[in-house]
Amino acid sequence: MARIDGTGGPLEALFDAARLAFERAYAPYSRFSVGAAILGEDGRIYAAPNVENAAYPAGTCAEAGAISAMIAGGARRIAELVVVGAGEGLCTPCGACRQRIREFADQECLIHIAGPEGIRASFTLSTLLPYSFGPENLDGGA
Ligand code: THU
Repeated sequence: MARIDGTGGPLEALFDAARLAFERAYAPYSRFSVGAAILGEDGRIYAAPNVENAAYPAGTCAEAGAISAMIAGGARRIAELVVVGAGEGLCTPCGACRQRIREFADQECLIHIAGPEGIRASFTLSTLLPYSFGPENLDGGA
């Protein structure tokens, strides 16, 4: 799937959407805000923050929310993704979210990891989730 070029333009728009979601995060328990924005194969942006819950395991990651928004919007493939997280480190997607992304993205899909100030690093999905299990593994199963 086509990537968006370098800096400025569409990538900046994707970052801005993730940053806005980050600012709207509901994270009163961890106090760790995250925002994610997906560029769908339809050229539209789908964004969400993490949404926590007093029953802690019921909280949802930003990436999961953005994927739900994409599916609700009618898109089926992730062209590119930006995650904005707080703190000094790289806010890479958790293991479960890597698998959630895997369902809807190609191996070469770029996942940009950002802080509130901008993008810090970019990884392909296959780097974050090598030798992964996906929908095609189910083809020809017993
Ligand atoms: N979190 C995300 O939303 N995405 C990530 O990539 C990492 C972690 C959330 C889950 C929880 O609300 C908070 O960050 C702390 O783990």
